[in-house]
Amino acid sequence: MYLQELQLQQFRNYPTAKLTFGQGINVLLGENAQGKTNLLEAIYVLALTRSHRTANDHDLVNWQAKTAKVSGRVVKAAGTVPLELTFSRQGKRARVNHLEQARLSQYVGQLNVILFAPEDLAIVKGAPTVRRRFMDMEFGQMNPRYLYNLSQYRTLLKQRNRYLKDLQHKQNKDLLFLSVLSDQLAAFGAEIIAQRLAMLQKLEHWAQAIHGEISQQREELTFHYATQVADDQLTDVPTITAALSALYAKQQDKELYQGTTLVGPHRDDLHFQVNGKNVQTFGSQGQQRTTALSVKLAEIDLMKEETGEYPVLLLDDVLSELDDARQTHLLTAIQDKVQTFITTTSLSGITRQLIKDPTIFHVAEGTVVADAVDSDDPAASKED
Ligand SMILES: Nc1ncnc2c1ncn2[C@@H]1O[C@H](COP(=O)(O)OP(=O)(O)O)[C@@H](O)[C@H]1O
Ligand SMILES: [Mg+2]
Repeated sequence: MYLQELQLQQFRNYPTAKLTFGQGINVLLGENAQGKTNLLEAIYVLALTRSHRTANDHDLVNWQAKTAKVSGRVVKAAGTVPLELTFSRQGKRARVNHLEQARLSQYVGQLNVILFAPEDLAIVKGAPTVRRRFMDMEFGQMNPRYLYNLSQYRTLLKQRNRYLKDLQHKQNKDLLFLSVLSDQLAAFGAEIIAQRLAMLQKLEHWAQAIHGEISQQREELTFHYATQVADDQLTDVPTITAALSALYAKQQDKELYQGTTLVGPHRDDLHFQVNGKNVQTFGSQGQQRTTALSVKLAEIDLMKEETGEYPVLLLDDVLSELDDARQTHLLTAIQDKVQTFITTTSLSGITRQLIKDPTIFHVAEGTVVADAVDSDDPAASKED
């Protein structure tokens, strides 16, 4: 799939913008603080209805305005799909094919994106929340069922945590209602864990191949899903449900004491191992980078496997950060397959030969101008 057109109204520092993109590599070129990341963010938001860098939708609205709009046209094998999102104080509205969607989980998945920014090293180095968010965002895009389970789980989790806190102040504790909530939570928690395991197994397969290639087969990347559920119980949904229920029962006193739910997918983690050792604690900077890159590139293949279409790749200030070998690997992996957006302040750190016929946009103070120079023009290729 590719994003053919993007339109913005009062989004961040763009009063209005209307852009037509190339199917290959699109380079967004400009000084700092001009609006390059804002453009990538707009594409990310159009895909997922939420930003990767703020939890508050209102940050997306231009400071001088009350409502922001992001719309675009996605071209897929099955046809062209117009998408539209509006953000206002009343909340957000999502339209697919001009039809308003009652649930955001029905909207997400129309446009698939993978974002790779320098802070993505945090997938490897950061706190467990980063990796849980990673799993939830990526698997949610590929699978509406995953998003549904997740939103049910979150609602129940809030309810259960509130009830655990209430019980702290009660003399006579109604543990029956708690066990009802526990059973419901266990059921959705087990669905999420089972889906994560299935997706991780596929992702690991792709990431392993890529990591092996980048490291010239010197390193083997493996994943380990870290959970309180015992390994031999991570088999199917009913078994995991029973295991979670047993864990709630076992830790009931502790949960009542702390007033919060201590077991479940919201507490799990994902460990990346290189040659059997956790790369977060034992890996070199280089191994951590290779791991992050392999996982990101593997997502491209996984998304193709799951949805039948290649996603759109967003590379924010990341290309010039990679050494030549890793740049080459990345650009070869996406060539002729994946529509890619690259932001950069300069083309100098980038191996130009690998970027075939890029469409170049100049970004300055919330305006974007496409490069008029035709890439087939012999005068243009003299630059490199
Ligand atoms: N809601 C907003 N309204 C207006 N301007 C904004 C808003 N949010 C961020 N900005 C401006 O956008 C600019 C940052 O854009 P960004 O895309 O992050 O820059 P870069 O080109 O370095 O990636 C800053 O000048 C910031 O003040
Ligand atoms: Mg930026």
